Amino acid sequence: MRPDKLKARIFLDGGDPHETQQALALLGFLDGQTTNPTLIAKNPQAKKLLERGEKFTKEEILNFYHFVVRELSALMPLGAISIEVYADPATTADDMLLQAEKMFSWIPNAHIKFPSSAEGLKAAEQAVKRGMRINMTLCFTQEQAAAVYAATRGAKKGDVFVSPFVGRLDDRGEDGMQLIANIMRMYGQGDSHVETLTASVRNLGHLLRGLQLGSDILTAPFNVLKEWADQGLPVPDEGYVYDPKGLAPIPYKDVPLTLNWNQYHLEHDLTVKGMERFSQDWNALIK
Ligand code: E4P
Repeated sequence: MRPDKLKARIFLDGGDPHETQQALALLGFLDGQTTNPTLIAKNPQAKKLLERGEKFTKEEILNFYHFVVRELSALMPLGAISIEVYADPATTADDMLLQAEKMFSWIPNAHIKFPSSAEGLKAAEQAVKRGMRINMTLCFTQEQAAAVYAATRGAKKGDVFVSPFVGRLDDRGEDGMQLIANIMRMYGQGDSHVETLTASVRNLGHLLRGLQLGSDILTAPFNVLKEWADQGLPVPDEGYVYDPKGLAPIPYKDVPLTLNWNQYHLEHDLTVKGMERFSQDWNALIK
């Protein structure tokens, strides 16, 4: 059951509806799910097909992704289900938008994921104007989060998420949770139309610190949600002390929220690497 003190929404990060059923049974609630190309590639049905030496056609893989998110939507009709466009570093905004239009029509509760790159931001600005709900993924800096804010001004609260990837920053020795704190502080000067979704969660510490910081949404893999459930779904208060385990601090920057989105510095090597990895995992599924 959802703890009374819990204000944030909790999503499962995964690509397997059976796992979603298990998480729902374990927690007693779930507010949505995030998917991405790598997670779809890890779906047991997709893995079995690959193990048989078979692959999908381009049409089949999209049908499969559609089938998976339809199942998720049926399990969580009131939740938010994130579906990611295919985007390698050369994919244009127009191409992303075409995919987004299609994917947004798949289920009534879709949020479309675009990368926090220049082309991704361009696509996001148009997508919001066309009434789509979005989730800006592969966010690694305050500037990228400020650009998301700027590109989506006027959007309804609940329609725009930004996903800072904490685990991938930790992986290279930077304290990812500090990026969440910095973005929350920066967004505190704004109108709250963008919700912060703590992503790339790798352990219970990330989840608890995200809750303590007031992240609007947290998405976590099944094993982390299970650990949380096993401990009785604790919701930390001010007394909780997060241990960054010697990771390098990410200092807060005074980034204004008033510029046009294309005036912010958007480049980050992890955003490019992330797009490369997602597209490689996706292409490996296709004949
Ligand atoms: C969710 O939206 C993200 O795609 C996911 O949390 C990324 O996690 P990873 O860094 O463990 O791949």
